[in-house]
Amino acid sequence: MFNPGNIGLLKLQNRFIRSATAEFVANDYDGTITKEYHSLYSNLALGEIGLIIQGHLYVMDEGKAHKHMAGIAHDTHITGLKQITKLVHEADTENLIAAQLNHGGAYSVSTKTASPREDEEIIVMSEEDIENVIEGFRKAALRAKKAGYDAIQIHSAHGYLLRQFLSNKTNKRTDSWGGSLENRAQFLLSVYQAIRSVVGSNYPVLVKMNGSDDPSEGFTVEEGSKVASWLANEGLDAIEISGMRSTRTVKPEKEAYFSPTARIIKQHIGDMPLILVGGLRSLAQMQELREEFVDFISMCRPFIREPNLVQKFKSGKKRSDCISCNKCYKARNISKCLEKNSSTSD
Ligand SMILES: Cc1cc2nc3c(=O)[nH]c(=O)nc-3n(C[C@H](O)[C@H](O)[C@H](O)COP(=O)(O)O)c2cc1C
Ligand code: SF4
Repeated sequence: MFNPGNIGLLKLQNRFIRSATAEFVANDYDGTITKEYHSLYSNLALGEIGLIIQGHLYVMDEGKAHKHMAGIAHDTHITGLKQITKLVHEADTENLIAAQLNHGGAYSVSTKTASPREDEEIIVMSEEDIENVIEGFRKAALRAKKAGYDAIQIHSAHGYLLRQFLSNKTNKRTDSWGGSLENRAQFLLSVYQAIRSVVGSNYPVLVKMNGSDDPSEGFTVEEGSKVASWLANEGLDAIEISGMRSTRTVKPEKEAYFSPTARIIKQHIGDMPLILVGGLRSLAQMQELREEFVDFISMCRPFIREPNLVQKFKSGKKRSDCISCNKCYKARNISKCLEKNSSTSD
C-alpha cells in the first residue's frame, strides 16, 4: 500500500486515494469556494494521500446536484478552484489533486433539467440537450486543467446523469442514446472523447462508475465489464468501481462491498488501473486486495474522521476509526466526524 503507483503519467506516492467527497460548503448562490472549503483541503493536504479527488463539481448550472455544491461551470469558477489546487500542491510537493466533473441529471436541483427521470415528471432530453451537456463537460475539463488539477474524474456512478443513461432501468429512450448497451453507453463515451480531445493524450482522465446496479435492477456486471473495456480501449487512465447504495454501513466482516463486481471487471480492462471504493476500513484487507487485483484503494468517510489516516497506518494503526454511521452525510457536514464517540485513536 505504501509503494508508489502510476495512473497514466501521474506518479502517486502510495496506493491510497481520497474518493470524491461533496463538501457542502460552497456559496449556494454561485458555487464559488469558501474559507471552510480551504480549511478542509488544508487538512487533507497534510495527510500524505496518494491522490485527493475533490468533491463533485457541477459542469453546468442545470446539473447542480444539491445545495452548497461547488461549480466548474463558468470561467469565473477558475480563480477559487485554483486556490485549492495551489494550497494542496504547496503543502507537499508529492500531493496530487483531481477534479470530479458531474451533472446531476434527474437529481439536479434545477427544475429546468431535462433528464430520463424515473417518476411521472419525465422530461426527455432532446438531442440538443445531450450535445449541450457533452459540451458542458468538455469546457469544464478545460477549466479544470487551467485551475491546476493533476487529473479529471468523470462521475458516472451512483444515481447521476451519466449513470442514468447507462442503466436500462432509467434509460427508456428509443433513439440512438437508448436501447442497446452500446447506445446507453454512448453518452459516457462521448463525454470521455470530448474531454480527451481538449486535454490531450498525456493528461490523466479517470471515470467513477458503478460496477453494477446490484442490489437494484438495471446495469449488470456483464454490462459494467463491457463499458469498462470500451473505456480502456479508448485510452482511459483508470476506473474507480463503486455501486448503488454507495455509503453502506460496514460490518468488519463485510468490508469492501464492491470488491466482487470489481474483481470481475478487472478481468476485462487489460492494464488499466482499477481503483476500488466502498467500505474499506482495515489495512490488512486493503493489502490483501492489492495483492489480488486492486491497484489503488479509495476511501471517503475514513478521511472525514481521520484526514491523517495514511500517516497513522504508516505508524502501525490497523483500522480506520470510522464506523460508517453516515451521520456526517445526513447532516451534510464533512468538516468533522459527527459520531458521538468521535475521538480518534492512533
Ligand atoms: C459526505 C459524502 C459525500 C460524498 N460525495 C461524493 C461525491 O462528490 N462524488 C462521488 O463520486 N461520491 C461521493 N460520495 C461517495 C464516496 O465517494 C464513496 O464512494 C462512498 O462513501 C463509499 O466509500 P467509503 O466507505 O470509504 O465512505 C460521498 C460520500 C459521502 C459520505
Ligand atoms: S460521522 Fe464519523 S464515524 Fe460516522 S460515517 Fe461520518 S466520519 Fe464515519
